[in-house]
Amino acid sequence: MSNANRIALVTGATGGLGTDMCKKLYDDGYVVVANFRSDEKGREWYDERKLEGYDFYMAKGDVTDYEDVGRMIATIKEKIGPISILINNAGITRDKPFWKMDAASWHAVIDTNLTSVFNCSRHVIEDMIAQQFGRIINISSVNGQRGQFGQTNYSAAKAGMHGFTKSLAMEVARKGITVNTISPGYIATDMVMAVKEEVRNKIVEQIPMGRLGGTEEIAYLVSFLASGKANYITGANYAINGGQHVY
Ligand code: CAA
Repeated sequence: MSNANRIALVTGATGGLGTDMCKKLYDDGYVVVANFRSDEKGREWYDERKLEGYDFYMAKGDVTDYEDVGRMIATIKEKIGPISILINNAGITRDKPFWKMDAASWHAVIDTNLTSVFNCSRHVIEDMIAQQFGRIINISSVNGQRGQFGQTNYSAAKAGMHGFTKSLAMEVARKGITVNTISPGYIATDMVMAVKEEVRNKIVEQIPMGRLGGTEEIAYLVSFLASGKANYITGANYAINGGQHVY
């Protein structure tokens, strides 16, 4: 089957990483479904992309809510077809030292960054099994691999994503479905730019390449892992961090 007949869903599409993933997958010829949460942001983002020549199918849905995700994915299936490629990209931070971490910040990050992976993957897996083809790509973080001051919630969620990847990869390996993790380092997105400037500058100083990553540098790997060239890659965790964490 050519890319043109395959439907790719990107969660958290309106963020910096999500935007470039959507564009790259669209350029590759997929039908791209962009998930968003806020109407205002979704509309604005769609209009901006339209001006750039991209036409995405927009899907509103709260990835923390199992029922809402089910409704969203059923609507996509009814309107355009079953999803073949799922990019679990939606994520937030609520950075605080653990002694200041409130339960709401813990749950918000675990729900958005980790439970969302269950919610979205669970609702697409049966259609992927029926197609005997599927790609699930989980966007984790260098801070899930190595930890970071102020991110007990985020690091727990991001490390959890790769545990999920490894187990699901084994379960569906014989069904034409691959499941992989990408662990970006510090990429030039609004999320990273929200870190206090002096803290961010110190972090960048510790990156061997001496710079933040570009969003397109993550999108290229998403494109490759989604393609038929990556058929034998599953359960893997790809670091893209400018040498910040080598192991
Ligand atoms: N290492 C060691 N000690 C630190 C520290 C660090 N990185 N940061 C703060 N501290 C110390 C402070 O010196 C202070 O010590 P004292 O009480 O003895 O003075 C104590 O910890 C408390 O510090 P603050 O009062 O400054 O705490 P805060 O609540 O104002 O700030 C924080 C804490 C916001 C978490 C800040 O440390 C921070 O921004 N850390 C970086 C978090 C980060 O990298 N987030 C990444 C976001 S982007 C992302 O997540 C994408 C991705 O995947 C990479």
